[in-house]
Amino acid sequence: MTRTVLVTGGTSGIGRAIAARFAADQAEVLITGRNPDTVEAAARELGVHGAVCDATDTVQVAELAARLDEVDVLINAAGGLSQPVGDGTSLDEVLALWHANLAQNLLSAVLTTASVQDRLTRDSSVVSIGSIGAERRGGSYGAAKAALGAWNATLSAELAPAGVTCNIISAGYIAGTNFFRGGLSDERRRALVEETHNKRPGTVDDIAQTAHFLASPGARHITGQTVHVNGGAFTTR
Ligand SMILES: NC(=O)c1ccc[n+]([C@@H]2O[C@H](COP(=O)([O-])OP(=O)(O)OC[C@H]3O[C@@H](n4cnc5c(N)ncnc54)[C@H](OP(=O)(O)O)[C@@H]3O)[C@@H](O)[C@H]2O)c1
Repeated sequence: MTRTVLVTGGTSGIGRAIAARFAADQAEVLITGRNPDTVEAAARELGVHGAVCDATDTVQVAELAARLDEVDVLINAAGGLSQPVGDGTSLDEVLALWHANLAQNLLSAVLTTASVQDRLTRDSSVVSIGSIGAERRGGSYGAAKAALGAWNATLSAELAPAGVTCNIISAGYIAGTNFFRGGLSDERRRALVEETHNKRPGTVDDIAQTAHFLASPGARHITGQTVHVNGGAFTTR
């Protein structure tokens, strides 16, 4: 059976690798992003469908959902690190930074999921991309990713009776993305790798394979969880 897979933020980095992994299964994949040029180029290169949609915009999200009959896998990968406005010290600047990070990293997933909730099939999966930043050093970005985990727990309780699993993949430092916008120094990169037990950065494929597993028949009893993929940089009990 051909599955329908919606990947927000599928034009680059982690979302793009996840889209490629499901496309390799001959799934019907739809990727989104905010930039028409990158949506068109990524969709063509991956051989999937593309739609321009800002996942923080209720009108655009509703229009996207209206195009879909059924969704078997929803991947909420859209996100990123919003930077302070100005010197970030006035109350208006603080508010703008928090609004931006909460919108891009929390509300994007909440709105997209709500928009397609009634189109999720039995045995479908919702996978949202969280961050190690939820556990430490997070600021407004980490707070948004931590809240994603809290939201996911409630979502899982709500949707599991209908056969839907809902999980977070909390990613450590992943190379090969536009996340740092060229702003990651060699020193900082070395420090992030040094924090891992296996002394390597994560790859987009590490996350794509985990997402693919969470949406597989072998993972039907895994729901409401945060799965950490970070090479040991953050450990759990
Ligand atoms: N890279 C890492 O080390 C790392 C670590 C932990 C977690 N993460 C998380 O992984 C996810 C994917 O990021 P990435 O590392 O792959 O970075 P990336 O290469 O910059 O990809 C981000 C993707 O999200 C899209 N996007 C951003 N805001 C959006 C919005 N409001 N609506 C729709 N699309 C949006 C981007 O396209 P447009 O900008 O064109 O819209 C792009 O396709 C994010 O949630 C990020 O927080 C990344």
